[in-house]
Amino acid sequence: MSRYFLTTPIYYVTAQPHLGHAYSTITADALARWHRLLGEEVHFLTGTDEHGQKVADKAAAEGKDPQAFVDEIAPLYAKAWDRLGITNDDFIRTTEERHKIGVRELLQRCYDAGDIELDVYKGKYCVACEEYYTDDELDPGDLCRIHRQPVQYYEEENYFFRLSRFQQRLLDWYDAHPGAIKPEFRGNEALGLIRSGLRDFSVSRTSLQWGIPLPWDDKHVAYVWFDALANYITAIGYGTDEERFNTWWPGRHLIGKDIIRHHCVYWPAMLMSAGLEPPAGWAVGGWLLVGGEKMSKTQGNVVNPLDLVDEIGVDGFRYYVLAETPYGNDGDFTAEGLDARYNSDLANNLGNLLSRVATVVGKKCDGVGPAPSPDSPLAAVAASAYADTAKAWDDVQPSRALEATWSLIRATNAYLEANEPWKAEPGPAVDTVMGDALEALRIVSVLASPAVPESAQAVWQRIGMPGNVIDQRLPHAAAWGGYPGGLTVVKGDPLFPRR
Ligand code: MSP
Repeated sequence: MSRYFLTTPIYYVTAQPHLGHAYSTITADALARWHRLLGEEVHFLTGTDEHGQKVADKAAAEGKDPQAFVDEIAPLYAKAWDRLGITNDDFIRTTEERHKIGVRELLQRCYDAGDIELDVYKGKYCVACEEYYTDDELDPGDLCRIHRQPVQYYEEENYFFRLSRFQQRLLDWYDAHPGAIKPEFRGNEALGLIRSGLRDFSVSRTSLQWGIPLPWDDKHVAYVWFDALANYITAIGYGTDEERFNTWWPGRHLIGKDIIRHHCVYWPAMLMSAGLEPPAGWAVGGWLLVGGEKMSKTQGNVVNPLDLVDEIGVDGFRYYVLAETPYGNDGDFTAEGLDARYNSDLANNLGNLLSRVATVVGKKCDGVGPAPSPDSPLAAVAASAYADTAKAWDDVQPSRALEATWSLIRATNAYLEANEPWKAEPGPAVDTVMGDALEALRIVSVLASPAVPESAQAVWQRIGMPGNVIDQRLPHAAAWGGYPGGLTVVKGDPLFPRR
């Protein structure tokens, strides 16, 4: 069976989970769910990034010991993901022992390979990015371009990772693995970074205690990005359980565009240095902006995803973030957009189809769903909806996948309108139309389940299907003719009450 190991970035515990974190976690969750439907053995990892200057500063500002501080915040992420229906198989915290062991192992391997060396660093550092910058990478006034706050001048003895040695190896690797970064234009950004020349980066700090000490020199703690990236392998047993590690690595990373350099340049080079395989792939998303700006406390535009879920439901929220923005591009979050999507796609299309079908089956078929016709005109529509949905998930394009799935919903509504079974006398003609519509709903519930899992299960149950929609397997479950007929169809309350 093929294996699919998928990760999200691990989130800094300096803030509570916000809309941007939810966006990346929901996208990854939907992908993980899709791959489970395909019958792959999925391991889906998320977690929290708990070391580094930023976290230490924040804990100090609150007058707390850093460990006590991170112990308060990390569970907020786990709870938020629970509320959003996230099906992660593991949750790694970088303050866990399994992680510390693996990070030391990785550092030691790179050191033994001769790729980590001592040097003196003088330069400008953005604490929010945890990154050194040169003058030409900063805005006037020495402002970080991402955070728009002044960088700090640091001078210290650091160990350096000799990234400059990896330029050709990285270019060769990407050359041999076309399409490893999706979408393609984000891959081109990564290649541009590599081609423009690679600077060694420092992998240790002496000015800071809140981190993992280097195994060969405990005056230094590991640079937070070296520590953080390693989570992807420490969580699956690197340094602690080699067999498990070999089972799952290489994995795939879903990230935001702001962390391309770390994930697509530093990370594969670190892995190569340690004698490990680079990742199997990357999916790079844009930012979900609020009022055209990245969310931040200073902008005062932080949106708490859990407030939205209370308003519009888990699936309404998940559907919106997946359907609204082509993955890879920036999107703009608006409350009006959220309502508009909900009303048009969920209430008027999916919800309306289900309620129509259940009503007519109740009135004209004694509440018992008839079987579909093998040569229904909807069969071909369902086949192409499946093919397009599958292709789009494979390309990590959830908005296109949902568009393809919804094409079957729209076609089924149109089919009902053309046949008007609600006006006809009960009999074989009505039964055929309703059987076809039920079959379309069955297929839709499978294909839509990665995005709207609770509603997909509700549709599945109301049309009388036994068991769980998430236990279905593709492509079999999308093949026309799976609705057996003779099942009790339940009308129930509106699935998506209009807003
Ligand atoms: N801790 C690092 C990642 C280490 S991974 C080895 C980090 N954390 S973060 O919490 O600041 O951001 C994590 C991810 O969330 C980033 O990929 C970032 O792009 C994403 N998002 C944060 N705000 C976002 C939006 N407003 N929109 C979409 N994603 C955004 O970076």
